[in-house]
Amino acid sequence: MLNREKAVAVEAARQAGRLLVDIFEHPRTIETKGASYNLVTEADRRSEELILALIHEAFPHHAILAEESDIVPPESEYLWVVDPLDGTTNYAHRYPMFAVSIALWQQGRPVLAVVYDPLRDELFQAERGTGAFLNEQPIRVSATTSLRQALLGTGFYYERGEPMRRTLRQIEAFFDVPIHCIRRDGSAALDLCYVAAGRYDGFWELTLGPWDYAAGMLVIEEAGGIVTDAAGQAIGLFSRNILAANSMIHKDMLAVLARTA
Ligand code: IPD
Ligand code: CA
Ligand code: CA
Repeated sequence: MLNREKAVAVEAARQAGRLLVDIFEHPRTIETKGASYNLVTEADRRSEELILALIHEAFPHHAILAEESDIVPPESEYLWVVDPLDGTTNYAHRYPMFAVSIALWQQGRPVLAVVYDPLRDELFQAERGTGAFLNEQPIRVSATTSLRQALLGTGFYYERGEPMRRTLRQIEAFFDVPIHCIRRDGSAALDLCYVAAGRYDGFWELTLGPWDYAAGMLVIEEAGGIVTDAAGQAIGLFSRNILAANSMIHKDMLAVLARTA
């Protein structure tokens, strides 16, 4: 059991969440990373500083991979993967949907996950082999058996080239099924937890960073769902794309994605 690691991850996510909420309504400086629509705020940086300090203090020999830091993780059996603010575009526009995502990976797979939505005070967590929880209550993926009854989530990365065009073709193909509907909430970490909690039946996104799904994928697996890349292959830290769903919907989504690849 990773009790100490879990306590540190939960504390870091809650403290970072409080910081994000505290400065949500304040005037903020919005900068860009490359493209004019790839945003970063002071909140991203301050949240990351806080989380990294707590992890480093508790586990000085563990490696850390965090979105806003150009650090090369030292060799270590344990790797923390941190997104200090998932949903920066939402945050910058004061659209109330964002989260803190903290995962611990061991030998190439996630073993501990915490995703915290501070506005709703919803804390998703999972430890490998022990189930998935939302605010301490066990969660399961949906029991929806047909794509025709599915609510799906998707996301658009910051690349507006071919992956974006492919995503738009895939959205069209899913509507042709026809499914119930598609949402784009703007926080991949939360999107994945929503699959785990049965709020979405499935989610896919064609370009992601490891910090976007490092925690959410474990929450889904521990909630009984399936997570692969968009071609149905096992997912790793640098897979870049993701397909997550309950086991029935997963194979049907895979077939639609294959038709529109
Ligand atoms: C983004 C969000 C968004 C997803 C993008 C991610 P960020 O993360 O998760 O939902 O569509 O691909 O990059 O930049 O807000 O941490
Ligand atoms: Ca992110
Ligand atoms: Ca981020």
